[in-house]
Amino acid sequence: SQIQDLSGEKVKSAKNMAFAFDIDGVLVHGDRLIPEGKRALEILNGDNELGIKIPHIFLTNGSGKREDARCEQLSKILGNPVSIDQFIQSHTPMRALSEYYSTVLVVGGEGYKCREVAEAYGFKDIVVPNDIIAWDPTIAPFRVFTDEERATSRPRDFSKINIDAIMVFSDSRDYATDMQIIVDLLKSENGRFGTVAKDPVSQRIPIYFSQGDLLCPSEHPFPRMSQGAFRIGLEAMYKALTGVDLERVVYGKPELATYKYADEVITSWMEQIHNEEKLPENIYMVGDNPASDIIGGNMYGWNTCLVRTGVFQGGDNDENNPASFGVFVNVLEAVKTAMRKEL
Ligand code: G3P
Ligand code: MG
Repeated sequence: SQIQDLSGEKVKSAKNMAFAFDIDGVLVHGDRLIPEGKRALEILNGDNELGIKIPHIFLTNGSGKREDARCEQLSKILGNPVSIDQFIQSHTPMRALSEYYSTVLVVGGEGYKCREVAEAYGFKDIVVPNDIIAWDPTIAPFRVFTDEERATSRPRDFSKINIDAIMVFSDSRDYATDMQIIVDLLKSENGRFGTVAKDPVSQRIPIYFSQGDLLCPSEHPFPRMSQGAFRIGLEAMYKALTGVDLERVVYGKPELATYKYADEVITSWMEQIHNEEKLPENIYMVGDNPASDIIGGNMYGWNTCLVRTGVFQGGDNDENNPASFGVFVNVLEAVKTAMRKEL
C-alpha cells in the first residue's frame, strides 16, 4: 500500500504540472520534424511509468492558417494528435476582437488564407489589400496585379465604406503595398479611403498585430525579418508622415494577454483530459527564442526551458533572458528533466 500511496502522489503531481511548447525550433523546423519532439509528446500522451496523460499545450507565434488546418498538418508531422483545444497560434486570441469590429482590413499571409482565418473567427466583413487594389490600382503604383489575384479579389467602392480596424495577422508578402494601404487608412477619417483626418488621433482606427518577433529563422543562413520588423518600419513611417506616435496593440509571445489566454486553454484542456477544471501549479515553457518564449514565460512565473535546436545558439544560458529551469540540448531532455523534478 506504500507503493500505492506513492503512485497516488505521483498521479497528483502529474496532474499538477503542464507544458507549453513553442513549435518552430522546438518540435519542428518548418515542415521537418525534430525527432526528439515526437518522443517527448509520446511520453506526455501516456507512454510513461504512470500511464497517465500529462497536460500540454502548443503556444506558437506562427500564423497564416486556420487552427484546424494547422493542427491537422502538425499531427501528421509530429506523429501525435494535436487538438485545436490545446493549440494557440499568434492570432488565436484575436478571435475575441470579432465582437467589437465589423468591417476589418486583414493583412499578411499567403493568398487568401488569412481571409479564411478571419472568417473562422467570426469577423463579419473582411477586406484584404487585394480587394482594395482591384477597386483602385493607383493606390499601389508599383504593384503588378495578376489576373489570378483579380479573380479572387472582392472589389467594392471603398470610398463609401468605413473600415473599423486593421488586423495584421501574418507576414506581409508585399511591404510596399501593405504599408501604403495601412498608412492611407491610419491617416483617414475613421477608416474611409479618399479622406484625410483633421485630427489624426481621435479619428484614427485601431491597428493590431498578431505577434512581435523581429526575426524568424528560415532556410537562409541568417534569420529573416518577421512581423515585428514590419511593424517597426510602419511606426517610423507613420511618425515621419504625421508627427504623432502610432498606438498599436501586439499579441503573441511575449505579450501578457497571450499567456493569460494560455492559462484558460490549459485549464479547459485539463477538464478534457482529466475531468478537473483546474490550472496546474507547475507550468513549463519549452522554447528556443529567449526574446519571446523565455522572457514571456519568466515574466509570467512559469518555469522556462531553453533548447538549443532553434534560434538560441549561445553559451551556458542566454545573457539577457536566462531560462529559469535551464538550457537543454533538445525538447526531450527538457521534458525528462522537468518530469524527474515533479514526479
Ligand atoms: O516568428 C514566427 C514563427 O515562425 C515562430 O513560431 O513556434 O517558434 O513561436 P514559434
Ligand atoms: Mg520557436
